[in-house]
Amino acid sequence: MSEFIQVAKVSDVTSAGKLILEVDDRMVVLLHINEQFFCIDDVCTHDGGPLGEGELCGFELACPRHGAKFDVRTGAAITMPATEATVVHEIKIEGDNVFVRIKED
Ligand code: FES
Repeated sequence: MSEFIQVAKVSDVTSAGKLILEVDDRMVVLLHINEQFFCIDDVCTHDGGPLGEGELCGFELACPRHGAKFDVRTGAAITMPATEATVVHEIKIEGDNVFVRIKED
């Protein structure tokens, strides 16, 4: 199992906002919404679109390529054309530090 890795400061990501990061050779999106942090793969399950470049609305992130929406809390694909969830990674906050543990495939 992978370890928690410190990836950002809480203050690095405004609320609501997002940050694209490379963690453990994997591109992920760190999201800060309503004082909560989430982390999902920066990959749309429809056709590999860069989710981190999409529009955030509430807890939904829209793929910029064909518009599929994902729930950043669960990774679930909410709207077509995506049907499979994207990967969610574990978050830990300690003080002003944000840690991510990459979920291995
Ligand atoms: S690549 Fe994301 S909706 Fe098609």
